[in-house]
Formats: sequence, structure tokens, C-alpha cells
Amino acid sequence: MDGLKAVLASRNRHKARELERLLPGWTVEPLDRDDYPPETGATYYDNAVLKARFGRAVTLGERWVLAEDSGLEVEALGGRPGVLSARYAPEGPPAVAKLLGELEGIDDRRAHYTSELVLLSFDGRELRGTGTLDGRIADEPVGSEGFGYDPIFVPEGQERTVAELGNEWKAENSHRARAAQALLEALSRS
Ligand code: IMP
Repeated sequence: MDGLKAVLASRNRHKARELERLLPGWTVEPLDRDDYPPETGATYYDNAVLKARFGRAVTLGERWVLAEDSGLEVEALGGRPGVLSARYAPEGPPAVAKLLGELEGIDDRRAHYTSELVLLSFDGRELRGTGTLDGRIADEPVGSEGFGYDPIFVPEGQERTVAELGNEWKAENSHRARAAQALLEALSRS
């Protein structure tokens, strides 16, 4: 669908920019509020719905609302940080350094990114798209594009990190790109 104007129930401008690239013709405007509800959901989907409903309430049901919850699951850590990825290192070393520290001496570097997108229409219909990206955690951070864990995430079949592969690569291949594609398909069927 072309020309859809949505608010993104998130303060994360990186995500809004990525989503705008991924949803051709859409305008994705981040909803900059400081009263988001705590992300208490057990799953990415639960948290995405929480954010989407909050976005719908504060825009009085007058806008399409997009919400995304995502994270990184590391096999050797039993799937952590997972839904807690954004809050993995609230104090102390940055998240990337903390994760590398936890994985020191561990050979199993397998990890997955997951993105869960929820779109609420004016009339409250809910559409959903999920995407994942498999890969492994590098030994040290490399690269400058993307955000978050991208400097240490090497996608399956690649030798370089997402931060080296860059934003254009992400727009074609990332977990968020796959979730956006699934959402567009759900929208075209609705
Ligand atoms: P959320 O805003 O609660 O969904 O937080 C998602 C967190 O997962 C981010 O703050 C990052 O730590 C991590 N994450 C999700 N997607 C990506 C990505 O594409 N690159 C790097 N880190 C990501």
C-alpha cells in the first residue's frame, strides 16, 4: 500500500528511519513521549501490542499506529537478552561490551535477531508481521552503521558484521526487513 501515514509508538529514531525505508511510500513518524508504559510483556508480540495500544490511545484513534518490539537471543545464554535487549545494560558497561564479556571463552556464538511489528488501523484492526535473522556474535565490535548490537552480529552466510554490511544490506535482509515484508503481505490480504 502506498502513502500510508503512521506514527511509530517508539522514541527510537533508528527504527523509524529503518521502517520508513522498508515500507515504501509510508511516512513513519516516531511518537516522542516520556510516558510509555513499561514493557512488561513476556514476548516481543505482547510488548509490540502494549506499545501500539498506547500509541492508539494518545493519538485518539485518529492515526494508523505502528509498533515494533525486537531483540537479540543468544543461544549460549539461554536466549538472553531477548525481550530485555533494550534494558540489558541499564548501568555499567555498554550492552555490546557486557555481552562480549559474558561470552568470553564460549565457543557457541549462535544468536538470532527477532522483530515483531504490529499495525493498528483507524478502526482498530490489528495486523502483524514477524521476522528473524540468524547469525553469530563476533569476537569484537566492527563497523559503524546500524545501531545496538549490529557491530557484533555476523549474519549467517556473511563474514562481516551488520554494522559493516550497512544500512542498505539491512534494508534487504534484516529481521526488521522480513517483518516489514510480512506486514505488507498481511495488509494486502486484509
Ligand atoms: P525495543 O525498542 O524494546 O524493541 O528494543 C530493541 C533492542 O533490541 C534494541 O535496543 C537493541 O538493543 C536490540 N535490537 C533490536 N533490533 C536491532 C537491530 O536491528 N540492530 C541492533 N540491535 C537491535
